[in-house]
Amino acid sequence: MKIIKKVSELQKIALKHLVNKDEIGLVPTMGALHEGHISLISKSVKNDDITIVSIFVNPIQFGQNEDYLKYPRPLEKDLAICKKNHVNYVFVPSAEEMFPRANRTRVEVKGLQDLLCGRFRINHFSGVDTVVAKLFNITFADRAYFGMKDFQQLRIIEKMVKDLNFRTKIVPCEIVREKSGLALSSRNFYLNPEEKESAVLISKTLKLAKEEIKVKSFSAAVKNAVKRISSIKNSRIDYVEAVDFNDLSPVSKNTKKAVLAVAVWIGKTRLIDNIIISKIVRE
Ligand code: PAJ
Repeated sequence: MKIIKKVSELQKIALKHLVNKDEIGLVPTMGALHEGHISLISKSVKNDDITIVSIFVNPIQFGQNEDYLKYPRPLEKDLAICKKNHVNYVFVPSAEEMFPRANRTRVEVKGLQDLLCGRFRINHFSGVDTVVAKLFNITFADRAYFGMKDFQQLRIIEKMVKDLNFRTKIVPCEIVREKSGLALSSRNFYLNPEEKESAVLISKTLKLAKEEIKVKSFSAAVKNAVKRISSIKNSRIDYVEAVDFNDLSPVSKNTKKAVLAVAVWIGKTRLIDNIIISKIVRE
């Protein structure tokens, strides 16, 4: 496994693999790797000739009052995980290497970037899109792996790829959860035991809503989910919304497949989760 810090070095190596007709897989991450990340890495190792994992806490996707500085950075542990999981290259650029002062370009996916998390994290998705676009251009990836945990991010990246004609194919990956149901997240590291107990109730609520939707309308299920999450200790809701599975538009009574997406603060930690809900259409 090779560790690379320079854009030019990785681009040169990736180009060689491209010319060689090796299929290149990319797993973009911000590190603090867990089983969720590992599931993406394993998929790439299985599908692709070469797997590149990027570990980069991307400064331009964090707001001014967000957790950029305290975001966990257990690099040695992350590198050991990559090695154990047969990664070929780990890209660990510095912030200055990825975004030198002269950098002026930002990628925007209008509309989609302003919904859900975008309402609360201004410029967040533009920061994500810009770094992911750079990673695609640096790695020439045939496939890039994204978790459905960040469902809005996944849909935005898919749209960016389509609109800007990137050669990279996006591979969506299932959410990995703890036995308790809690979706794995690097931000779970911030939770104390009491907060973790609260956090578990988020996924429990989503599961209940999925059941409820069989007999209730989307709006009734959302209303109940809001009620349940509001009563969780230490919680504060940013949003609880059901949106169309394909394009994140608001659900209507004709929507067949939706995503119930939530962003909830537990104490000082902002968690996101979602569940796919299919409406049973009765004739
Ligand atoms: P990060 O939060 O490190 O997540 C990296 C990838 O792992 C994302 O595609 C995310 O959806 C996926 N992931 C995280 N938790 C998961 C889980 N429990 N199950 C399945 N997949 C999971 O998302 C980012 O980093 C950044 O925004 C990035 C795309 C790297 C751009 O900076």
